[in-house]
Parts: sequence; structure tokens; C-alpha cells
Amino acid sequence: MLAIDARDVAKTFRSGVLRRRETVALAGVSLGVPRGTIFGLLGPNGAGKTTLLSIFATLLLPDRGQVTVLGHDVVREAGAVRRRLNMASGNASFVWALKPPEILAFYGRLYGLSGRRLRLRIDELLEMSELTAHRRVAYNELSTGLKQRLALAKALVNDPELLFLDEPTLGLDPDVSVRLRERIARLRREREMTIVLTTHYMREAEQLCDEIAFIKSGRVLARGTASELKRQIRIGDVIALRLDPPDAPWLADMAGVLRCTAVNGRIECTVDDAEKRLAEILAALHAEAVVVKDIQVREPELEEVFVELAR
Ligand SMILES: Nc1ncnc2c1ncn2[C@@H]1O[C@H](COP(=O)(O)OP(=O)(O)OP(=O)(O)O)[C@@H](O)[C@H]1O
Ligand SMILES: [Mg+2]
Repeated sequence: MLAIDARDVAKTFRSGVLRRRETVALAGVSLGVPRGTIFGLLGPNGAGKTTLLSIFATLLLPDRGQVTVLGHDVVREAGAVRRRLNMASGNASFVWALKPPEILAFYGRLYGLSGRRLRLRIDELLEMSELTAHRRVAYNELSTGLKQRLALAKALVNDPELLFLDEPTLGLDPDVSVRLRERIARLRREREMTIVLTTHYMREAEQLCDEIAFIKSGRVLARGTASELKRQIRIGDVIALRLDPPDAPWLADMAGVLRCTAVNGRIECTVDDAEKRLAEILAALHAEAVVVKDIQVREPELEEVFVELAR
């Protein structure tokens, strides 16, 4: 059962009066998001991620194509869809002088909550988001982490079945991001919510998402689980070596080594799985009496993935 079924969605922005400019944000996107999953949209700046989320969330009209969300057409039955979804943006900002309960009350009223029900809902959301201790702090005095938590709490005000998160961990410290991700994972687990999120972080997509779609220039270039994509795109971990003697061309022929490139006196070997291949590579170098002067292991950057995708 699909929560979202998008077919050939296109959107072009037109701006400028004297010199008209056209920006193709989406150039025909087809995507199905199964219910109860966390689905990641990954892509560089300007790829069309926010535009796509906004169309799914009935905030923007597509120029072309068809989108069914929770069984309703987003254009013809927008009202019916809206009640059942919500959206939070990592770029959100609220009225600076308002305190968290006032901000939540504003959004709660938009969904018809009032009086005791509204108060109970606000308390529940503050509690759940661990914001109770900060209820008297004005929005502009909250830390970035607390602001992001409040943005998420605001998006839960109508207890949505479908949640859109646009870069939910934007600007957060790694440890604060980890906790927010746990929160997101819990929403799916405990409430069976379907969650579609955008991110620039490969790690985040990998940890949270059941499936990922790579978007670039308004098109879906690839889609699958993190490991499927890595295999499909043949990206893996990078083992960077400084050797004496500096060259060992036979490394490229070893099992699990996808390719080797020379970078600033180092050899960078892209391997399918660093944990598995590191020991094998070190053993082989040792057997060939090559001295390892320095070694670094890292995950590929998202950018490298896109370089691969663009080939
Ligand atoms: N309201 C608008 N008017 C004109 N152009 C727009 C508008 N919104 C988006 N665009 C353009 O559409 C393209 C897609 O933008 P979008 O915001 O969807 O990308 P994104 O993938 O979310 O990027 P980012 O990672 O930077 O958030 C970009 O070229 C952007 O400049
Ligand atoms: Mg965006």
C-alpha cells in the first residue's frame, strides 16, 4: 500500500518581469512511497527536494503529472489530504517573541483544537519533545537544537499519518542530530507514521531511511536501500594509504577493491566494505614488503556519490 504515488511530476518556476527567467525544479518525477516507511530524498542544492515535498504536502501545485497521497489526489482533494499530513522544515522560523506553548497553540487552532483539548495537546507535545523545561523561553532565545525540536513538535499537532521533514537536522551538532534522529525513528515505530525526509547527509539517510531516492536537476537518478544504492552506484568506503614505495598498482586488482586513484602522494582505494577489506589489504602489503606510513579510512562524501551518478 502506497502512502504516496507520484507520476511524472513536473514544476517550472517563472520569475522576473523584464527578463523572464524559467527554472525547471522538477522534470518528471515518478516515485512510490510505501506506508509506514521512512523515505529519504537526497540530493545537492537546487535538486528539487523541497519543491517535491511541497507538492506532496499540497503547498505547491504541479504543472504536470499526478500525485496521490493517502489515496487522495493532491490537487483535486487537497483539503482531505491536508488534515492527515504535516510538514516541518529545518529552516523554519516562528514569531521570535512567542514561547513554545504559544507557537503550538497557534498551529493547534488551525486544526480546530481549542480550550482544554488544545491545552492537553500542547502539554503532551512539550512533554514528548522534552521542551517542558523551556516553555517560558521566547523562540529567539532557544538554541538551534531546541528550535528544531519545536519545529518537529509543531508538525505533530494534528497527529499526522504522513510527515514531511525538510532537512530536520540542519545546523545541529552531531550528538543533537543523533537524538533527533532517534525521535524520528520512534515516531515511525510507535505511531506507524510514514515519514518522507530530505537531507544532505548520506549517514542520516543511511541510518534512518528504509529507502532513498537520489534527486538531481529535478530527476530521480537512482532509488533503493542504502546498500542497494551503494552497490548500484558502486560507491563504497575509501581507504587512503601512504606507502613506501609509494606505488602499488596491484591493489586495484584485489577482491572488493572497486578502484584506486593516486591523490597527493597517497593511494585512495575505494572498497565495498572497509571493515572487511582493510585487514586483507594490510596483509597483502605486508607480504609484498610495502611499508604503510599512514592510513585513513572514511565514508564517501555525498558529493562523490553524485560525481559517480553523473557519469
Ligand atoms: N519560489 C521559487 N521561485 C523561483 N525558483 C524557485 C523557487 N523555489 C525553488 N526554486 C528553484 O527551483 C530549483 C529547485 O529548488 P528546491 O528548493 O526544490 O531544491 P532543493 O533540492 O530543496 O535544494 P536545497 O538542498 O538547497 O534545499 C532551484 O533551482 C531553485 O532555485
Ligand atoms: Mg530544500
